[in-house]
Amino acid sequence: MSDTASNRPELPSEIARRRTFAIISHPDAGKTTLTEKFLLYGGAIQMAGQVRAKGEARRTRSDFMQMEKDRGISVSASAMSFDYGTFRFNLVDTPGHSDFSEDTYRTLTAVDAAVMVIDGAKGVESQTQKLFEVCRLRDLPILTFCNKMDRESRDIFDIIDEIQENLAIDVTPASWPIGVGRDFVGTYDILRDRLELMDRADRNKVAESIEINGLDDPKLAEHVPAHLLETFLEELEMARELLPALDRQALLDGTMTPIWFGSAINSFGVKELMDGIANFGPEPQIQVAQPRNIAPEEKKVTGFVFKVQANMDPKHRDRVAFVRMASGHFKRGMKLTHVRTKKLMTISNPVLFLASDRELAEEAWAGDIIGIPNHGQLRIGDTLTEGEALRVSGIPSFAPELLQSVRAGDPLKSKHLEKALMQFAEEGAAKVFKPSIGSGFIVGVVGPLQFEVLASRIEIEYGLPVRFEQSQFTSARWVAGDKQALDKFINANSQHIAHDHDGDIVYLTRMKWDIDRVERDYPDLKLTATKEMM
Ligand code: G4P
Repeated sequence: MSDTASNRPELPSEIARRRTFAIISHPDAGKTTLTEKFLLYGGAIQMAGQVRAKGEARRTRSDFMQMEKDRGISVSASAMSFDYGTFRFNLVDTPGHSDFSEDTYRTLTAVDAAVMVIDGAKGVESQTQKLFEVCRLRDLPILTFCNKMDRESRDIFDIIDEIQENLAIDVTPASWPIGVGRDFVGTYDILRDRLELMDRADRNKVAESIEINGLDDPKLAEHVPAHLLETFLEELEMARELLPALDRQALLDGTMTPIWFGSAINSFGVKELMDGIANFGPEPQIQVAQPRNIAPEEKKVTGFVFKVQANMDPKHRDRVAFVRMASGHFKRGMKLTHVRTKKLMTISNPVLFLASDRELAEEAWAGDIIGIPNHGQLRIGDTLTEGEALRVSGIPSFAPELLQSVRAGDPLKSKHLEKALMQFAEEGAAKVFKPSIGSGFIVGVVGPLQFEVLASRIEIEYGLPVRFEQSQFTSARWVAGDKQALDKFINANSQHIAHDHDGDIVYLTRMKWDIDRVERDYPDLKLTATKEMM
């Protein structure tokens, strides 16, 4: 592994060595396996299998919820930090299921790059496409890992074409596979001119790596069977003719993705990918904020909350706010200003999510993710600074696409239910609306599985069985306007009016036509499908 010179020489080395990224993929492509191997090479776990091992006593962070265990899906985003050579990797886990796109979106505001994992037999799948589009909204740099090359895969040029066509991004091969399926022997590392040979017998063994001096180096023929070598050389020549070479700036701009081929389960190609993240991936980037942007090298500390997780430890009713450090050098015990409330907070017990366990964070640099336990003061979108009134922007809240009413199994427990719902709303797990007429709550989500997750969490975390029921409403819009226009609107439409957990006015709609009608009849009001979290 070699350090390449920083493209932002103004960054202190502690910041420049940080790589904060997420992995995006379609379920089953191999994200968990790849994460596990990252942690293994990062020295964070001793043995592969630990991330997934569902031990009774100790549950790993990406696996602490019952739903995840039962259904094998990753519901909650979590962060893991580990060192790789001279680099510090902060890996932020994204929920893979399409029902959690809002959570995923917010998670992606906290990273500087994404690793896109695709299954070599399947190519770009629906969820890959969706997640990619979310990354595109922020021009996030993407590094691609084409996994499961130990099995029959599709034609490599086809896969690359598909990425270029469907995702509209240039692809540059960082490695090239030799042989397919059972004949797959390894890859040629194009960036470093090395032959990497996979060991099928030992899944945790690092591949044998042989330096190659030009493509007529006899070492190639020594290690690669003649019939595979011929095809490989032809393909490589074609690839070099047809595909662009790696251009780091294009990668950083999000217009080019390097692709590595490998097999996560065989630990193959993973180190090359990690070296790629280290050497070509972005350093902590400038954070868009109001009234000015924040540069990571600024001396003063700033950070913002991109996720709140309640009840991480069932024994304590605490919440952990996940904070992405945007600038400066944070030290434990610092007093930071909570910009929304203008109050000072002493951050005395911040947590660093070292992959093996939660640990007190004595310090953190721009790019790091820390957890701040709190009792509800910290919300998604909040900014912490050393006094300046900065607000990180671009963390949206989306109008839900599915609405249901919710009731406690025991009507006497409705206050409890309200508390639980408010907590989930603040956490960003659902939208909760209190209609201005009648009792009860309407819960809004983006995907149907979220109702099940909520019901399960309310039952497990609050001991409260609940029922979700069909609601007459199908969508919601936030309403803004001057007081007079708003009052008139609210009086005339009280059946449709509710308040969200922040107290903002929401118009609940039965059909698209409702929205058209309001827009026509109340031209002074603004209906919006997103609201910036603040
Ligand atoms: P996900 O988090 O993206 O959903 O994928 P995960 O890592 O759980 O992998 C999905 C399946 O693909 C797993 O098999 C895993 O073992 C397998 N897999 C991952 N990487 C490779 C690879 O490089 N080659 C091959 N052939 N398979 C791979 P499973 O049968 O669902 O689970 P398990 O019984 O192996 O745990």
